[in-house]
Amino acid sequence: MKNIEIIGTGMAKAKRCITNDDLAKTVDTSDEWITTRTGIKERRFCSEEEDAYTLAYEAARNALSSANVKAEEIDCIVCGTISGEYVTPSMACLVQKELGIKEDIPVLDVNAACSGFIYGLEVARGLLNSTGGSYGLVIGCEHLSKLLDMEDRNTCVLFGDGAGACVIQTVEGGLYQSVLGARGGYEIAVEGPGKERSIIHMDGKAVFKFAVEAIPKCLHELQKKGNITLDDVDMVVCHQANSRIIDHCIRKLHADAGKFYKNMDRFGNTSAASVPMALDEVVKTKKAKVGDTLMLVGFGGGLTWAGVLLRIGEKHETIG
Ligand code: UT7
Repeated sequence: MKNIEIIGTGMAKAKRCITNDDLAKTVDTSDEWITTRTGIKERRFCSEEEDAYTLAYEAARNALSSANVKAEEIDCIVCGTISGEYVTPSMACLVQKELGIKEDIPVLDVNAACSGFIYGLEVARGLLNSTGGSYGLVIGCEHLSKLLDMEDRNTCVLFGDGAGACVIQTVEGGLYQSVLGARGGYEIAVEGPGKERSIIHMDGKAVFKFAVEAIPKCLHELQKKGNITLDDVDMVVCHQANSRIIDHCIRKLHADAGKFYKNMDRFGNTSAASVPMALDEVVKTKKAKVGDTLMLVGFGGGLTWAGVLLRIGEKHETIG
């Protein structure tokens, strides 16, 4: 089985910026509570003309251009999302059509909630290997604001909208490991289509407890499988649910806090979009460059967890 590396990243921010003070006008909360409990200062919500698909399309286009890969070179598309406009066609199929990506390739969505993008990387790796493809497009996109009960302060202050994407390339040799799992559970739940409006329900405390076990477990297993230590890793990009979760894990692992990227202050928790959005910022701000080693870690609904160890690469001109 060939390994994969990331050769381009992109993101799309939703247009409406909602601050903690904005929310405090309509629900019993405060900037002080949200900032100290979560690290979130503001989040982006879709405007009237935006949705998960428009964000996914923009992020995908940006990723293709940063990878210098043409749409027609893509050999599979996998999208992590729980908030697409359609149950079918999948978000990945909508992006395929709009970008003019070829037809005879696998194109699908993955539902692993906040772990969806990382599950997507592993699924895309498997598909590229089984089809002999070279380049994959992996997206994470969410329009969570439409799933929020804006009267429930336990959830409405936490989530935001956005999309991130990356282009991956198969490589001979290289470095790649993955850890995927799920415990099953309703601690984070959103009803499917039915009579009632779908909204996000969450037992925050239970998920917090789960998260501070899941992240170190993923990082430990990736180190063991890759036969490396965190000292050999250039950046760690965790799901951006709560800065206290990440700080807790840094303390538990006695890790270098400077390697753990955070951007939940500006975007909140964007579920499947959070890791690829953070990854794009890590790359664009040159916190990680070609040849660097990354660990990406997600956790979330279904009590799923996912981690990958991989490198940033450059388009291999001889492929395809
Ligand atoms: O992407 C999926 C992954 N999701 C997560 O990782 C979420 C993980 N969980 C968390 O991040 C945290 O548990 C929360 C941020 C959701 C909550 O923080 P907490 O420190 O666990 O607070 P809590 O739920 O124990 O609530 C403490 C108090 C309660 O009041 P009482 O019962 O002590 O009087 C809440 O009613 O804070 C109250 N509270 C709020 N107060 C002001 C809850 N939400 C708010 C709010 N503003 N927005």
